[in-house]
Amino acid sequence: MRTGQEQTAATAFAREQGERFVEELKALLRIPSVSTDPARAAEVRRAAEFCADELRRIGMGHVRLWETATAERPGGHPLVLAEWTGAAGKPTVLFYGHYDVQPAEPLEEWVSPPFEPEQRNGNLYARGAVDDKGQMWMHVKALESLFAAGSGRLPVNVRVVLEGEEEVGGEGIAAFVREHGDELAADVALVSDTEMFAPELPTLCVGLRGMIYTEIEVRGGRTDLHSGIYGGAAPNAFVALAQIIAGLKDRDGRILIPGIYDAVEAPTGAELEAWKALPFDEELYRTTEVGSPELTGEPGFSVLERTWVRPTLDVHGMPGGFTGAGAKTVIPAKATAKVSLRLVPRMSPAETFAQLQDYVAKLAPKGVEVEVRMIHSGDPIVVDTENPYVRAATEAMHEVWGKGTVFVRGGGSIPIVGDFVRVLGMPTVLMGFGLPDDNLHAPNEKFSLANFHRGIQSLIGFLVRVGAHG
Ligand code: BES
Ligand code: MN
Ligand code: MN
Repeated sequence: MRTGQEQTAATAFAREQGERFVEELKALLRIPSVSTDPARAAEVRRAAEFCADELRRIGMGHVRLWETATAERPGGHPLVLAEWTGAAGKPTVLFYGHYDVQPAEPLEEWVSPPFEPEQRNGNLYARGAVDDKGQMWMHVKALESLFAAGSGRLPVNVRVVLEGEEEVGGEGIAAFVREHGDELAADVALVSDTEMFAPELPTLCVGLRGMIYTEIEVRGGRTDLHSGIYGGAAPNAFVALAQIIAGLKDRDGRILIPGIYDAVEAPTGAELEAWKALPFDEELYRTTEVGSPELTGEPGFSVLERTWVRPTLDVHGMPGGFTGAGAKTVIPAKATAKVSLRLVPRMSPAETFAQLQDYVAKLAPKGVEVEVRMIHSGDPIVVDTENPYVRAATEAMHEVWGKGTVFVRGGGSIPIVGDFVRVLGMPTVLMGFGLPDDNLHAPNEKFSLANFHRGIQSLIGFLVRVGAHG
């Protein structure tokens, strides 16, 4: 079949079957595959099986679960692998997505329950709607539509890898890439797990921040102590932790860890110029997205620079001590804080971790012991835009959205993408269809159904073009 006809037939199929696609996605969203919660391990596996079953049904071959759990990492969740390699001489596209989701708490803030997907005002609300089950499902449905249009054939060779640990650092898939990278060999990796810069504005993400996610633990006395009997003589682990944390950043938002900015690579002048042309209204961003009385961050940098190309440090929570109802007069023996840093190109996770450890040791007041533990890390990346795959993506999106594509960086992280770029040496296309107000990781996560359907059309157009050029 000629490529034009193939695309027309596939898009027609996707349009006709669109409602069914959404119903299937809802079934996947009902599975609470929260990867960080050991109690949900069986649900995470159920989501993997759901995806594998569908890949098999649409015509993918060699569909299997690959176990990532090992003696050292008993909690590892399976990878879903699949391939179809019947397009001799054509390029191979590696599809990546993740079927795990973030925890849904605080539950009381959801308008409809997180694992009971609901359609309201053209959006689908559920945990994972956009990050990343909905976007991953677009991939599966684009493939299904192309199989239908091509009588069981695709315009390109395809490998699929879906992971269930993206939201907890992606260690399992990283080990797979190190040991079995050849099974993922492809000409280009395709990822839909990022956002559009604004509604109706087709966007390619050309860089992601890396991160180190750590836990700082402070230990004071041998056990919790009565604060009346010992207060005045015993060190308080929480006060010490607060002092350490307060020393990590100044009041303007600059990180105070010595050397932290040394390796930072500035964006090119051309990139900075291009960002000035993006439709960004800082006041609207402050009121509708952030919702705080003022924005914070490093002086001298724009919001886009601060969130895309500058390292940042955040505290996620400080578990421990007394947090129950009412009062308890106790000097906690132990205090912990979950602290992460986002890294930008040229920064190394190992180096940054060492700098953090050294500085935390210096900040610790007398009377306590401090330990910094790494929970997970990932490298920052920038992707090459000078290749036929990026051109195919921008052409395909132009056709669907009727507008030129903007190139942006992403402030978030997708740990394995760094390995696709560095270990497997693949050009990577980050074609995401989330919107700035989709509430990723927050209550009332949603996905615009218009974007879901247009995303599928864009992916079909991309694959047909890659097949035609190859
Ligand atoms: N899909 C996001 C990452 C993202 C979101 C990139 C928006 C660009 C724009 C991903 O699922 C995510 O949340 N990653 C985590 C990674 C971490 C837990 C290792 C993140 O960025 O916090
Ligand atoms: Mn994601
Ligand atoms: Mn996420």
